[in-house]
Amino acid sequence: MDILKRISLRLRRKQTLSQTLIETAPAPAPAPAPAQMPNNGNKIIAINSDGTEELAASIAGALIEFRGKDSVVRISKGAKLIGCKFFLGTECSIEIESSKYTIRNVVAHVTFAFGRLKIGKDFSSWGVSLKLEEPSTTVTFGQDCMLSYGITIRTTDGHQILDLSTGNVVNFGADVMIGNHCWIGQDAMILKGVTLANGTIVAARSLVAKSVAEENTIIAGVSAKVVRRNVGWNREAPRRK
Ligand SMILES: CC(C)(COP(=O)(O)OP(=O)(O)OC[C@H]1O[C@@H](n2cnc3c(N)ncnc32)[C@H](O)[C@@H]1OP(=O)(O)O)[C@@H](O)C(=O)NCCC(=O)NCCS
Repeated sequence: MDILKRISLRLRRKQTLSQTLIETAPAPAPAPAPAQMPNNGNKIIAINSDGTEELAASIAGALIEFRGKDSVVRISKGAKLIGCKFFLGTECSIEIESSKYTIRNVVAHVTFAFGRLKIGKDFSSWGVSLKLEEPSTTVTFGQDCMLSYGITIRTTDGHQILDLSTGNVVNFGADVMIGNHCWIGQDAMILKGVTLANGTIVAARSLVAKSVAEENTIIAGVSAKVVRRNVGWNREAPRRK
């Protein structure tokens, strides 16, 4: 037998051996089932476009940390999130409706019992810190709200102020309610108890401590006051006609 034939015979033998090995090798043991993490009744729910709901393990673009129990995050699959962080305490909820715009850098601390954040349809943001750090407080956005960078919204002062003659706390937290089609400018801060009417524009760096009942105004300053009336806005860059 010449050398070439011998090599090819050896190769064939080797192949048959390895095939046999593969065929006869025992099937790998099934991977152990992932350990069930106790979820303490916390839930992430994704909402489909037809309104049906399904449980989800996570939401793209959002880090979600449940720190208590029985809390829920309900987010429409039609909402595109980037860089968001949600922290929830016990029996808290965060609800975000669908949006044709991108929702960036919403950092929500809904960490005290029964806190509730609700974001209406077609919301957009570049960066907002939401501090709901007192029990049973709520932040609500209506539809079509546009938020710039560096915004802070608080339902609480975070620490007690006392009337020294009575010892009573004088600065309890209160809900914040932003109407439909509101535009909040860069670095604005909105404090506890503020309600803004539909169509409010909050100027850059304003500090909003009081509610505004009149629709379609610009509010500006520290503390913010109405500086212009009967105005509208849209998302296009200003262009001369
Ligand atoms: C709110 C805003 C859009 C209003 O613009 P405008 O309609 O051209 O308003 P004007 O500049 O005519 O200002 C109206 C009055 O408000 C005052 N004002 C405007 N912005 C203010 C502000 N940020 N803080 C305090 N006062 C302000 C003006 O001094 C003026 O006062 P006066 O009537 O006493 O002279 C603009 O001031 C603003 O804040 N722009 C930044 C928006 C932003 O954050 N964009 C980021 C996009 S991502």
